[in-house]
Amino acid sequence: MDYKTEIANKLALCTGLESDKVLSLIEIPPQLDMGDYAFPCFVLAKTLRKAPPMIATEIAGSDDLKIEGVSVSCAGPYINFKISREILAESVISDIITAGDKYGEDTVGSGKTVIVEYSSPNIAKPFHVGHAFTTILGNSIARIYSKLGYNVQRFNHLGDYGTQFGKLITAYRLWGDEKALEEDPINELLRIYVKFHEEAKNEPSLEDDARDNFRKLEEGSEEEVALWQRFRDVSLEVFKKTYDRMGVEFDNYNGESFYSSRIPAVVDELKSKNLLVESEGAQVVMLEDEGLPPCIVLKSDGTTIYASRDLAAAKYRYDNYKFDKNIYVVGLPQQLHFRQVFAVLKKMGYDFADNCVHVGFGLVKFKDRVFSTREGNIVLLDDLLNKTVEKTEEIIRNNAQARGGDMSDEQISEIAEKVGIGAVIYTYLKSGREKDIIFDWKEMLDFEGDTAPYLIYTYARTRSILRKAGEQGIAPSEGDGYGLLTGDDEYAVIRSLADFKDSVKKAAASYEPFMISRQISLIARNYNRFYNNSSILNAGSEELVRARLALCEAVCDVLKSGLELLGIDVVEKM
Ligand code: ARG
Repeated sequence: MDYKTEIANKLALCTGLESDKVLSLIEIPPQLDMGDYAFPCFVLAKTLRKAPPMIATEIAGSDDLKIEGVSVSCAGPYINFKISREILAESVISDIITAGDKYGEDTVGSGKTVIVEYSSPNIAKPFHVGHAFTTILGNSIARIYSKLGYNVQRFNHLGDYGTQFGKLITAYRLWGDEKALEEDPINELLRIYVKFHEEAKNEPSLEDDARDNFRKLEEGSEEEVALWQRFRDVSLEVFKKTYDRMGVEFDNYNGESFYSSRIPAVVDELKSKNLLVESEGAQVVMLEDEGLPPCIVLKSDGTTIYASRDLAAAKYRYDNYKFDKNIYVVGLPQQLHFRQVFAVLKKMGYDFADNCVHVGFGLVKFKDRVFSTREGNIVLLDDLLNKTVEKTEEIIRNNAQARGGDMSDEQISEIAEKVGIGAVIYTYLKSGREKDIIFDWKEMLDFEGDTAPYLIYTYARTRSILRKAGEQGIAPSEGDGYGLLTGDDEYAVIRSLADFKDSVKKAAASYEPFMISRQISLIARNYNRFYNNSSILNAGSEELVRARLALCEAVCDVLKSGLELLGIDVVEKM
């Protein structure tokens, strides 16, 4: 049973508030002995015209609030709920053992479609650590919504359109190296792009040629389209390798070019709705009543821009998916852009604009600047992953040696790849998304810290206990005896397990995967305290051994499920 929801339902009955409202108000008391949940009565003071402590006393005495195994008390303006340890252990552990690593799944989203747009790198440009942020954050948000039963559509809104493609076509015809494009596409495209700008300083006619090529591309001229397609294909191939490595997937790679053909219809619609005005030669939508600068739809030369493509894209998404939510995981610097786009949609009369959400995030920084890169300050994701995996491998190798380990080099490399990538992902997701991230290998690879290696290690070590028990013919208990798990350390683990589901829902509502990372990190800490203080296989009675093994299994299930939601793989051995 989900006690929090049950308590919320009863409170709703007693207070006349909506269950959801109550749920959002319920707190977890700062100290374990104060109870499991607390409801602050301040919200009721106005309607009931009484002081919160008095309201608390009255409600707490109500018969309607009775739930078996839950005791109710008052502390000033708070109503405290304390679930009997025995009953909590029974209900939480059996729920988890039954669900296995499907624990946390829900049906709140069934029948609803959510579009999550993330990654969206630019063709012919290197995939840098900023694109990794949207990729990792978006992947996690997509997984979270999926877990809650939503039909999730993963969109990669590739930057595959714009005047720079005219430049690339010009540059490729002059200096392109077919073989290099084959072998190292992004670097080759970057090289000719940089060369174009250098040469164009002395040779302005290059710019005219580029403009001409872009125009031909827009008009669908065969040769130009073929080259553009080639650039797009080879770039995407490179990106897909990185996605594979990180376990990231998409349903849809419709880039800006795809939506560009849909702009004329949007422009017509804006005109017929009298929303377009001319400003300094450009066609814009005025947004001063929203306190926003005008949104440019067509430039003075009649060409479209980034915002026009986004207007067409949003409309396309709604027409084809009837989404309940359309989430854009894009850096905070584009906040104004999205506000403008959503405001224009709203002016066009589209209520779905209210269900478009920009999920922004901070910047990526490095504590020690060991990276030298071609392009000033840009750090490539591949370099970050390689370096981290390399360092992880070193640590795992040393640990394995110290333990006189039995792992082959191949096994170690495989584990290091997963743990290293996990460490990078976790670093992106362990704090609120709007905070800047500072990469520091010492910190992110600390096997005792708030890191993926710590969590994966906790998982693997627990699996090894379960394996060991299995070899001795002892299995975790399936259904009974959980009520024996009432010691302080056991209770702390169970308590934190009990809050996992809630953390998934909160993460979804706030687009903050760190709600989950924080919860599983707490579970692992509590579990390790229990592990260090108590004996599992020598717990005494067979019943207790088996109950504790079930606790181990529950911890494994929830850690795995939580890590999966972040996009991190576990390993069975480490
Ligand atoms: N390609 C863009 C960039 O790298 C991000 C695209 C964001 N998505 C959108 N619908 N505008 O900055």
